[in-house]
Amino acid sequence: MTSQSQAIFSRAQSVFPSGYTRHLAVTKPHPQYAVSGERSWITDVDGTRKTDSLNNFASIIHGHAHPAITRLITEQAARLLCTVLPTEWEVKLAELLVDRIPSVEKVRFMNTGTEAVMLAVKVARAATGRSKVAKMEGGYHGQYDLIEASFQPSPSHWGDPARPTPVAHSVGTPQSLLDELILLPVNDIENTRARLRAEAPNLAAVIIDPYRLQLGIVEPTHDYLAMLREETARLGIVLIFDEVFCLRVDYHGMQGRLGITPDLTTMGKIIGGGMPIGAVGGTSELMSVFEIEGGEPKVKQSGTFTANPLSTAAGFTGMTLLTPTVFDQLAARGQRLRDGMTRVLRDLHVTGRAEGVGSFSGLLLTDQPLRNYRELATVMGGGLGDRMQAFQKLLLAEGVLTLRGGFIGSTPMTDDDIDFTIEAVRRALVKLDA
Ligand SMILES: Cc1ncc(COP(=O)(O)O)c(C=O)c1O
Repeated sequence: MTSQSQAIFSRAQSVFPSGYTRHLAVTKPHPQYAVSGERSWITDVDGTRKTDSLNNFASIIHGHAHPAITRLITEQAARLLCTVLPTEWEVKLAELLVDRIPSVEKVRFMNTGTEAVMLAVKVARAATGRSKVAKMEGGYHGQYDLIEASFQPSPSHWGDPARPTPVAHSVGTPQSLLDELILLPVNDIENTRARLRAEAPNLAAVIIDPYRLQLGIVEPTHDYLAMLREETARLGIVLIFDEVFCLRVDYHGMQGRLGITPDLTTMGKIIGGGMPIGAVGGTSELMSVFEIEGGEPKVKQSGTFTANPLSTAAGFTGMTLLTPTVFDQLAARGQRLRDGMTRVLRDLHVTGRAEGVGSFSGLLLTDQPLRNYRELATVMGGGLGDRMQAFQKLLLAEGVLTLRGGFIGSTPMTDDDIDFTIEAVRRALVKLDA
């Protein structure tokens, strides 16, 4: 019998290259097309329900069809969709971010996390007069061609571990662009320190996701982040924390949890309440590159949909619902999931570990340490990648939508939803090893 999803996919193949328009959302042999969502559940066109542990790549922290957010978007759409006049919503959302996120004294909005990263680089370059930018080998920061380089380089290209070689993520990236990128070996304090000191005269910024590189895997240690903070401050390099993903771990963001304050922060995902958004925030001094008093601003930024009232209104409403108590509840449910998955691994004698923080949990089917991108890539290339992919597929068949062993929580998830997920993990692991 042909499913409706199969039928839609055959049409999609005539209009999209290979039938898809988001590479990270590829599901073989074809995707299941969604039709509706409610709380932490999603229903596809064939009527199958799944618990959504991906939440649109961690952006909808209140799950699907949250009544307050849905009502607000509907009312706002009826009142005013978008206009070049600013609305009060942008001010309210900016006030909230300034209030909560330690590094943020001033903000600018844009439409995606990718744009936030692009703007943060421009701010750092304009403020320092330097052109180069440093990132961690294996770090993910969206689709800006300079910063997407070396997200997943293959071993044949990655070069000296102490001075990794920048590798283009997409064919056609100009070498002249890659020449502006410095790659740092995450968690290698001495080599990173030496590289920063050597490159400082030309180095505008260091960008890092302070929670995890590689979409949820490979954690920078606190010592490593503290060293980055100390060295960049000393050398006049702008430290950018990319919190597009990890702002969801705590009321004051990951930086609040770590007690380390960067110069600039890039944000996105949850701050839009489910609508597209991006933001850059930082010290008043750095953000003064946008100021218009005294002539042309050093950095010019506009954008057709920038700070549109739907994104800023939904974002403000969604963020307001995230009180410290709600963050505690999210963390408790995350811990319930991690404890449950740890129990399942032990019961089934499967090698692996469940880890994470707050509403993010990861299940990795290995006991190898993964201190940097190269260790991860080696273990993944040695069979773990195929095993994790097979596990993801089995979990989907058991009714749980995930990506690469990552489970992303949302506020409407109940203990029953978590227990459903734990039992689905058990059944998927039994099948995986059969
Ligand atoms: C850490 C990080 N930075 C930037 C981005 C890019 O955000 P967007 O997909 O909104 O462009 C992402 C997206 O997953 C991300 O996880």
